[in-house]
Amino acid sequence: MRKFWFISKLQYKIREGKKGLKETYDFLAPNYDYSKYLFCTRWIEKAEEKIVNKWLGELSSPVIDVGCGTGRYAVKIAGMGISVIALDLSLEMLKMAKKKKGNKILPVLADAECLPLKADSCGGVICTLAFNHLFSPVSAVYEFRRVLKKTGICIMSSFNKALLRRFKQKLNLPYAYMPFRTKNCGPTLIYEVGHNEEELKGLFQKAGFRIKAIEFCPVPISKLGIFRKLTLLFVFKLGFTVRKLVTSLEAGSLRLDKYSP
Ligand SMILES: C[S@@+](CC[C@H](N)C(=O)[O-])C[C@H]1O[C@@H](n2cnc3c(N)ncnc32)[C@H](O)[C@@H]1O
Repeated sequence: MRKFWFISKLQYKIREGKKGLKETYDFLAPNYDYSKYLFCTRWIEKAEEKIVNKWLGELSSPVIDVGCGTGRYAVKIAGMGISVIALDLSLEMLKMAKKKKGNKILPVLADAECLPLKADSCGGVICTLAFNHLFSPVSAVYEFRRVLKKTGICIMSSFNKALLRRFKQKLNLPYAYMPFRTKNCGPTLIYEVGHNEEELKGLFQKAGFRIKAIEFCPVPISKLGIFRKLTLLFVFKLGFTVRKLVTSLEAGSLRLDKYSP
């Protein structure tokens, strides 16, 4: 297994698996919101927020923000008077989120693929720019559905697979990895992949969700040579309401024993 990868002569450490993700986000956390190296993340967030913000009003208490990071949405949702469970794999990212909204959010260190919540306990699930890091998105979607109340809504955003792949090809990156770097975190590659619309529709519908909306989100990119190509990098969001109907029983393997139509 390779330990390093070179991009323009710069050596990137490859941090494998969930452990690698957790370690990297722990290092990124102190500078995550402001690092000059994460300018691309800021562009993507800005464009994505234009769409996601429109849906926040449909969430009801309590909301679980899965892969909440430094609390970009958790903080906003708590500000709307909704109680928020902010869940993340990285303790340091959670600490940053907690700092921003004190006792208004409940930080939980856990894995999106195995939520430590009771069934039918949430009025909303939000998962933004974290789904793309999941090794088992199927397990996560079933977990989203399990914890959501019948009337709940799930908002998620991820990268467009084809466009992300093109971006990676441009940078000569291995398919399943994305580069990250801040002052505290040397050049690192961690697992991150995109999804296409059909894949996501299938995934959520199989788990019993009804799709309310799928929106593509063009990211306006600067005039910088290589990044101009990134205009093609979209973030898209899906809105779902839960439908605990027969479809869920047809869906197969995961946790279906817990559901009754
Ligand atoms: C790019 S950040 C996005 C943070 C936030 N949702 C936002 O949109 O600003 C991705 C976050 O997902 C978290 N993450 C990655 N895999 C995870 C998993 N399996 N379970 C929970 N959190 C995870 C990372 O620790 C990181 O904080």
